[in-house]
Amino acid sequence: MEHLQQRRTPMNIDGKAWRTIWLEQDGRSVGVIDQTQLPHRFTTCTLSSCEQAAEAISTMVVRGAPLIGVTGAYGLMLALQADPGDASLAAAFAQLNATRPTAINLRWALERVRARVAPLPPEQRAQAAQDEAAVIANEDVAMCEAIGDHGLGLFQQLAAARPAERQGQPFNVLTHCNAGWLATVDWGTALAPIYKAHRAGLNMHVWVDETRPRNQGASLTAFELGREGVPHTVIVDNAGGHLMQHGQVDAVIVGTDRTTSRGDVCNKIGTYLKALAAHDNGVPFYVALPASTIDWTVADGVAEIPIEARSAAEVTHIQGRLSDGNGAGGSAPGAAIVSVQLTPDGSPGFNPAFDVTPARLVTALITERGVCAASEAGLKGLYGTI
Ligand code: MRU
Repeated sequence: MEHLQQRRTPMNIDGKAWRTIWLEQDGRSVGVIDQTQLPHRFTTCTLSSCEQAAEAISTMVVRGAPLIGVTGAYGLMLALQADPGDASLAAAFAQLNATRPTAINLRWALERVRARVAPLPPEQRAQAAQDEAAVIANEDVAMCEAIGDHGLGLFQQLAAARPAERQGQPFNVLTHCNAGWLATVDWGTALAPIYKAHRAGLNMHVWVDETRPRNQGASLTAFELGREGVPHTVIVDNAGGHLMQHGQVDAVIVGTDRTTSRGDVCNKIGTYLKALAAHDNGVPFYVALPASTIDWTVADGVAEIPIEARSAAEVTHIQGRLSDGNGAGGSAPGAAIVSVQLTPDGSPGFNPAFDVTPARLVTALITERGVCAASEAGLKGLYGTI
């Protein structure tokens, strides 16, 4: 089965190595891990239509910039299986592209599949879309693994450069949201260097921002790191600045949903505040990304990137596993996953899902082609003329 890998990758669940998305054995439908149930339940879903793929992206059954791109690509395949005509292709493209507006990977993957299938006779389109989606997925794995290798080198240098009295201590990295294998097809972006460093024997410890409102850090990043055996501690989003002031963060590393031609990065809401705190405390702030996350048509991220506003219910309510009520923080493994209201009846909420960190606050970008300055010159140096 395509999703069961032969080599050992970070996506190890109960001894099996997984990808986040795969073609099912029927050769037509698509399997995904249901991320709305993690960390409490590991379940999968089958997507059999374009509508189901769009719904899975909107409701964040699948999420993370690279993964929603691959899901969109397979969504076009599903649409073309049902109707391979031009009108169907256009409607499916529009439907999938509208699901989440900020991550550029979605539009990038949809455009790539459309460019591959549009010149073909209708009867060849569904298979061609499937082939292209598989190529995009495999490329994503390779890019993320390469990001891991480049980030590993950087972490090793930073760890070695610490003062003698800090050498025996863990190398402390802070991350925000989830930019691990669950956000990609495999490996992750920001977490790939962490996995590589941990496996290489670097004494790593990760501060995991909970990442309100949806808590991708507390639920998904902590789940990933725990499964891989990486020492980590979940913190509230407001703790990072305090930890940096007290020398407890050696580096910050995050992912990005859209990187502009001049190196501004748009990532999960709250990333900008971490970058400000890092800058104020002289802590290096790294952003890890594959080429599919770069939007060469946009320079000024604050002015030009559309920021998704999600439901206020994600702010006013919170989801978790029912605790046993004894105050000790325990809960039975099979206990119900419930949503509880945090706010008074009638208090409105506002939920911008992303923010932009200007390039001047980014120490460097870690890409599949190497490490570069967060600037037009830096990106041009790796990717050629813009
Ligand atoms: O809203 P999400 O969970 O899709 O947001 C994900 C992030 O912000 C990640 O940091 C980003 O996609 C970079 S991922 C590899």
